[in-house]
Amino acid sequence: MKLNIALLCGSLRKASYSRKVSAYLTEAGSRFELTIEVVEIADLPLYNEDLEITGTAPSSWSLFRKQMKSVDGILFVTPEYNRSLPAVLKNALDVASRPWGESIWNGKPAGIISLSQGSIGGFGANHHLRQILACLNVPVMAQPEAYLGNIQNCFEEKSNSIKPDTREFLEKFLQQFAVWAAKNRG
Ligand SMILES: Cc1cc2nc3c(=O)[nH]c(=O)nc-3n(C[C@H](O)[C@H](O)[C@H](O)COP(=O)(O)O)c2cc1C
Repeated sequence: MKLNIALLCGSLRKASYSRKVSAYLTEAGSRFELTIEVVEIADLPLYNEDLEITGTAPSSWSLFRKQMKSVDGILFVTPEYNRSLPAVLKNALDVASRPWGESIWNGKPAGIISLSQGSIGGFGANHHLRQILACLNVPVMAQPEAYLGNIQNCFEEKSNSIKPDTREFLEKFLQQFAVWAAKNRG
């Protein structure tokens, strides 16, 4: 059975490596019984609980919660910002974790791919994200882990497409994630 997976990307910039990797995953997913779609989080206003209390919460919050509620699992593709995850991703997690008692994250299986231009591949971002997801009761695939270091070298110079060894690595990750997410979906 095909699983619907929301992909949340931690970078907003146009030439983002994370976005390029995300685009590749959306295309490769179908080979592993996964329908992967990027859900945009750039326009979610910063979470402010007062807006729930006054009934003036932005409609983009409810739309995002609705979109996320309907999926079978989540893939995170994120760069590392100052040894942690980018704020835009944390905000999206906060938005859909509320109102209290109605978190949509509860029990949804997730996979994490972190990357950076440095050699440790966003380890800090990856593990801070795992810590947050533990609080949200999101089971995260433990293995294989995915840290894409020196990401700038993972693309062909001329075509800008992802190099074969990185593609192979991402496909192995997807293959394992498909099996694991199917087992762990709520
Ligand atoms: C605010 C900021 C903080 C960053 N902090 C780190 C860091 O802690 N570790 C690291 O390896 N790279 C860090 N970088 C570099 C990013 O990993 C690199 O720019 C990466 O390409 C960003 O991902 P993107 O290409 O998907 O936008 C930082 C970049 C920015 C803009």
